[in-house]
Amino acid sequence: MDKFRITGGRALSGRVSISGAKNSALPCMAAALLSAETVTLHNLPYVRDIITQRRLLEDLGATVLTPELRTHKISASHIELFEAPYELVRTMRASVLVLGPLLSRFGKAKVSLPGGCAIGTRPIDLHLVAFEKLGAEVKLEGGNVIARAPNGGRLVGGEIQFDKVTVTGTENVMMAATLARGVTVLQNAACEPEITDLAELLNKMGARVRGAGTSRIEIEGVEELGSAQHTIIPDRIETGTFIAAAAITQGDLEIKDCQPLHLAAVIDKFRQVGVSIEEINPSTLRVSCPKKLTAKDVTTQPHPQFPTDMQAQYMALMTQAEGKAVIEETVFENRFMHASELQRMGARISIDGRHASVTGPTPLTGAPLIASDLRASASLVLAGLVAKGETIIDRVYHIDRGYEKIEAKLRNVGADIERIRESVTASLPHVPQPGMAAEV
Ligand code: EPZ
Repeated sequence: MDKFRITGGRALSGRVSISGAKNSALPCMAAALLSAETVTLHNLPYVRDIITQRRLLEDLGATVLTPELRTHKISASHIELFEAPYELVRTMRASVLVLGPLLSRFGKAKVSLPGGCAIGTRPIDLHLVAFEKLGAEVKLEGGNVIARAPNGGRLVGGEIQFDKVTVTGTENVMMAATLARGVTVLQNAACEPEITDLAELLNKMGARVRGAGTSRIEIEGVEELGSAQHTIIPDRIETGTFIAAAAITQGDLEIKDCQPLHLAAVIDKFRQVGVSIEEINPSTLRVSCPKKLTAKDVTTQPHPQFPTDMQAQYMALMTQAEGKAVIEETVFENRFMHASELQRMGARISIDGRHASVTGPTPLTGAPLIASDLRASASLVLAGLVAKGETIIDRVYHIDRGYEKIEAKLRNVGADIERIRESVTASLPHVPQPGMAAEV
C-alpha cells in the first residue's frame, strides 16, 4: 500500500486550486441512471471513488465516455443489470445511491447492504423506510436489499419525514421521487450544498424539484427525464482542509476555484481561532495565519453547521492552539480514530465518548502512522506538515478516495511530502494538475 513521507516545518505559500466535490459527483453520476439520454458532468474530481462509481455504472450497462479527464458523458440507454454487488458496495458505501434511480426508472433494484465502516455503523434504514413510503416493497435477503415498485410499475409520491437528517438518504429518495406518480414531500431533509447541486442537475434533466437546500423538499413526479450538462460544485471539504493546512503551517495560501459560501461555518470557526481568511473574489480565498492560534470548542452538526467531515482536520489544528478545545462529534458515533495516531506524535488529547479534549500548543514529533478513513488521513497529513522530523503515513488509499493528488498540490505550495508507491499498478496513474507542470 502506498505511503506518504512528510518532513514538517515548512510554511506553505502559493496558490492551490480546488477540485470538484466528490460528495456531489457521486449522486450526480447515479442520477444519470434516471434517463435514457446522455448526462454530461464537468469538473469531476479525479479520485478513487469516482472511478469506483464509474465502474458500477458500466457494470449496470451504462456507457461512460471521457472526452477529458474531468468530464464524463454517461448514457444509461441500455441498462441490463439492476444490481450493485457486495464487492463494490463494501469499497464505497455511496454505491447505495443507485438504489433510488434503478427502483424508480426500472421498478426493481438489488443493492448489497453497505455494513458498517471505521466511523460508525451507518445503517440505511431511513432510505428503505422512505422507499416503502413511495410504495416499494423492500426486503433484506442474503445481505442484499431487494426493492420492487408496486406491480413492477411506478413509485407513488408521498409524505416522508426523516427521523434523522441523512445526506445520501435525502439524495436517494429525491432522485427516486422524480419519476414517481404524483408529489413527494421530504421533511427534515438534509440541506448540504451537494443536495442543491444534485437538484440543479435533476431539474436540468426535466425534473420538478423545489426547496433543495432547505429541510422541506417537494418533488412533482414526471413521466421521464432527458439529457443535461452540469458542472459539479467545488469541494468544500477540500477547501476547508487547505485552510487548515495554511493555518497549521502558519503559511500564506491563495485557494482558488472554491465556493466560500458552502463552508461559512468552517470559515467562521477558523476566524474565531485567529486565522485570517480574506475573500479575494467569489471563488478565491487568501488564508494566512498570525503567530498565535486560540483554542475554541466546536460541535459537528448537519449543514449549515460545522461539518463532521472537517472535525479531524480541526482536531489536528487544535493541537497547535493556545488552551483547551472540546470537540463534540454528534453525527457519527466512532469518528475519533485519528486521535490515537495524533497522540503518537505527542498530541495531548483525551476522549470521553463523543467528546474529545485537545490541549495545546504541543510540539509534534514525526512518527509512523496508519490512516483509518478519508478525513482521518487528512488530519494526519496536516499534523505531519507541522511535526518535527519525518512522518510516514500508511494506507493512504483512504485519502486517494476523496482528495485529488493532495501530495502534489501540497508540494506545489512548498510542502516536503512524497508518495512512496507500493507498486506501479496499485496507485492511480499520474495526471498533471490543472496549471501544474507534468511530473516526469
Ligand atoms: C454523507 O454520508 C457523506 N458521504 C459523508 O462524507 C458525510 O460524513 C455525511 O454525509 C454527513 O455529512 C457522501 O455524501 C457520499 P448520513 P451519509 O446518512 O449520507 C445515520 C466523507 O468523508 N443514519 O447523513 O452516509 C448515520 O449512521 C464522507 O466524504 C441512520 O441512522 O451520512 C449517521 O450517524 C464520510 N440511518 C447520520 O445518520 C440511515 O438510513 C448521518 O448520516 C442513514 C443515516
